[in-house]
Amino acid sequence: MRVAVLSGAGISAESGLKTFRDSDGLWENHRVEDVATPQAFRRNPELVLRFYNERRRAVLQAQPNEGHREIARWEARHSVRVVTQNIDDLHERAGSTSVLHLHGSILEGRSSKDPDLVFPWTGDMRLGDLAPDGTQVRPNVVWFGEPVPRMEAAIEAVEGCDALVVVGTSLQVYPAAMLTQFAPPHARLVLVDPRPPAHPPKGCLVIAEKASIGLPRAAELLGL
Ligand code: APR
Repeated sequence: MRVAVLSGAGISAESGLKTFRDSDGLWENHRVEDVATPQAFRRNPELVLRFYNERRRAVLQAQPNEGHREIARWEARHSVRVVTQNIDDLHERAGSTSVLHLHGSILEGRSSKDPDLVFPWTGDMRLGDLAPDGTQVRPNVVWFGEPVPRMEAAIEAVEGCDALVVVGTSLQVYPAAMLTQFAPPHARLVLVDPRPPAHPPKGCLVIAEKASIGLPRAAELLGL
């Protein structure tokens, strides 16, 4: 079976990484507009770099959880493509081999000018650190208001699936939230979330459980 997975912050919650919308619209005590927009980076680059330095350290200390591992196990018998909105590398560390990061990676830096000039970056990032083109380095993450360059590849992954598993995302952020609409008519849709969205995608079976419990159930239901 060809399985597509659309994951969000919730799959990493059991690894100790906070989700975005579970805490009154604040993300680690910051309003998203103050840290995750190009305007914020222009206005206060130090704050933005410091914020992402903290996120990067947390990711490096976190370990994949049973939810990530369950998805990785499906690869033994199925073709699995993970599309994640997460900037952490926990799917990869759990063993998934096809992971598309729709919103970039916290473990990469990029040029402030050229979105294609991307390189590994695992340490803190400071004002004055330069990309190879001489511009200030910034995290390779997609901020609000910026284009989502991998959207087409993500659509392809969903279009080509027989089953789509949506896990740990509030489906509030576009264009990622649109992806479920690209599942082919024959595909079965399952959503795993302890507090599922009020209006889940049409035809979607909802498992209202956290990822570590809900994903094995989804596998059972889908015969994975
Ligand atoms: N298992 C599964 N889901 C969980 C768990 C868990 N253990 N804990 C929480 N959740 C669910 C929440 O109920 C919520 O529906 O995860 C979802 C997280 O939603 P958001 O915080 O909105 O995260 P996400 O959908 O990934 O956000 C999308 O928004 O801030 C931007 O770019 C950022 O990629 C991010 C995007």
